[in-house]
Amino acid sequence: MIELINKKRLGLELTRGELEAFFFGYLNQEVKDYQMSAMLMAICIHGLSDKEVFNLVDIFIASGISLDLSSLGTTVDKHSTGGVGDKTTLIVGPIVSSCGVKVPKMSGRGLGHTGGTIDKIESIPSFNTHLTIEEFIDQLEHIGFALMSQTDELTPLDKMIYALRDVTGTVESIPLIAISIMSKKIALGASHILIDIKLGKGALIKTKEEALEISRLMMEIGKKYHREVRTMITNMDHPLGDMIGNTLEVLEAMETLKGRPGPLMDLCVEIASEMVSMGKNISVEEAKKRVLTVIENGDAFQQFLWFVEAQGGRLDELTLSDTTRGVYAAKTGIVIDIDALKMGNLSVHLGAGRLRKEDSIDPLAGIMIHKNVGSYVKKGEVLYTAYYTEPLKVELTDDAFTII
Ligand code: URA
Repeated sequence: MIELINKKRLGLELTRGELEAFFFGYLNQEVKDYQMSAMLMAICIHGLSDKEVFNLVDIFIASGISLDLSSLGTTVDKHSTGGVGDKTTLIVGPIVSSCGVKVPKMSGRGLGHTGGTIDKIESIPSFNTHLTIEEFIDQLEHIGFALMSQTDELTPLDKMIYALRDVTGTVESIPLIAISIMSKKIALGASHILIDIKLGKGALIKTKEEALEISRLMMEIGKKYHREVRTMITNMDHPLGDMIGNTLEVLEAMETLKGRPGPLMDLCVEIASEMVSMGKNISVEEAKKRVLTVIENGDAFQQFLWFVEAQGGRLDELTLSDTTRGVYAAKTGIVIDIDALKMGNLSVHLGAGRLRKEDSIDPLAGIMIHKNVGSYVKKGEVLYTAYYTEPLKVELTDDAFTII
């Protein structure tokens, strides 16, 4: 194993047999966490060839079972590469399934400063994310949208490695992100896949070149497995929407499904239109008309309620922390920037994310932005409110805001 780590440290290509020995060795606990951490860091520094990427996607998929969803007809899955305030799955799942396109979704937990859909939806009391595969398929048949957390059955290697990357500074690697996401998508079995590549300060992907590279890799992987993959590259310099944190984001998702306009709504309409276009094999323009209709006539919101009820969630018990503190504007002007990375890190420190693998998150913690990018603000007005339950371990400042 040390030889293989050394080979990657020198930037050399590993053969399929070597990758299998190392990664299946980790699955069987023969390779230790510290050895895998060293390998992941070498990969972060040197990257991987396309051949290594394809081999690792095969290996990740082969570490568990793959679902056969062909009995459901066309299915469209969606994934975001990770951002701050990104609650789009909770909005587009109900919209797209209201348009008659089935959306099977397996999601993860928060990673670094980025939030995870499973942490968000689990802030609804009693919501069950641990569906069996039978329950998952049954719900897709009857409701059209089902959301489960990563099980030990599908791509267990990704589950182990994802948790290790989170705490070893090895998240931000283009090939590792592509392998992690695409192996899960292929194993889950949807026939069509939309990837929202988040680009900017609050994203895992920081440059346009990296975004184009991950888009290329993901489409190539899709081709190999005969799946239609579309990618979008969308901005993550600023937090998405006004809320960051788990319960807060569920509330904002519901407001958006009820028709609240703004950049979050615009992005969800764009993503949902691409998904419906793939699922129904129609133009994006035609798909957009259907998407806007189900938002306007209330079908999409009703679909959200059915989906939550089907998974046991008690929306009537959703609460927010009543310990809050506002942060005030030091001057009058226009908010021209809110740094998504700073806000993401602040939300983690408030309790909405994890600092260590074994940490639990506080569903009640988070941030409500009152003056978003483009807003006029008067000195002394509240810029944002922090929600928390534990004593504050971090200073609340207006550091992330640029006002001119
Ligand atoms: N989302 C994933 O599922 N995997 C990554 O590596 C990054 C974001």
